[in-house]
Amino acid sequence: MPSLSVNVDHIATLREARKAKEPDPVAAAILAELGGAKGITVHLREDRRHIQERDLKILRSTIKTKLDLEMGMNEEILKIALTIKPDLATLVPERSGEITTEGGLDLSKDNSRLKEVMSLLREAKIPVSLFINPTPDSVKKAHKLGADFVELNTGIYAESNEPLKIATELERLAGAAALAKKLGLGVNAGHGLNYQNVEKICLIKEIDELSIGHSIISRACLVGMEQAVREMVRLIER
Ligand code: PXP
Repeated sequence: MPSLSVNVDHIATLREARKAKEPDPVAAAILAELGGAKGITVHLREDRRHIQERDLKILRSTIKTKLDLEMGMNEEILKIALTIKPDLATLVPERSGEITTEGGLDLSKDNSRLKEVMSLLREAKIPVSLFINPTPDSVKKAHKLGADFVELNTGIYAESNEPLKIATELERLAGAAALAKKLGLGVNAGHGLNYQNVEKICLIKEIDELSIGHSIISRACLVGMEQAVREMVRLIER
């Protein structure tokens, strides 16, 4: 059964909409833990449109579970990561102006910057996860690059409405998860998961952890953070 890491970025999105002090992603993270989250994820973006360095620093010293920092490969963000030392650094592609992460890393091209970033993170004893699309080739490349974890992109599965496409994508995810496990990688998965589509993903036994943000925060606006997390944990456990 996968554990749940709750992405609290969008609590900060709401705060930044008014450049105010609330709602505080740190408070949300504590409530998420009380609701059963086994980890907290944040993405410190170059444009700082939601999470700020202040959040990261306080989260590092307050949360009781694990801190997963999603990050691009910008020099300044890397420096912050090396100082904060999250429990996991998940490297993602970041395009300025994107609404959310648009897909997995393209590992087929020149990976010199990726290798450099991975090496500095690993030197600082920060385990590294690579956010990739669920293909055998990406998994093999992530392994070759020396990743500790992969995070499989569930975005295409989550966005599909056609049963055949959903089934095909689930098969791709299951195949990629099995291969990653066989190669000794930790297996995380996420993007677009919600209360309606999470259960089928939980049938993939190799997945260690799910990273879920938008759907939980959306529900939390209506029912409260702790309850929204508890409901998601219950679905995963079922
Ligand atoms: N994993 C990665 C790499 C992401 O970029 C995001 C979005 O920040 C998520 C998981 C969570 O996606 P969602 O907010 O759709 O649950």
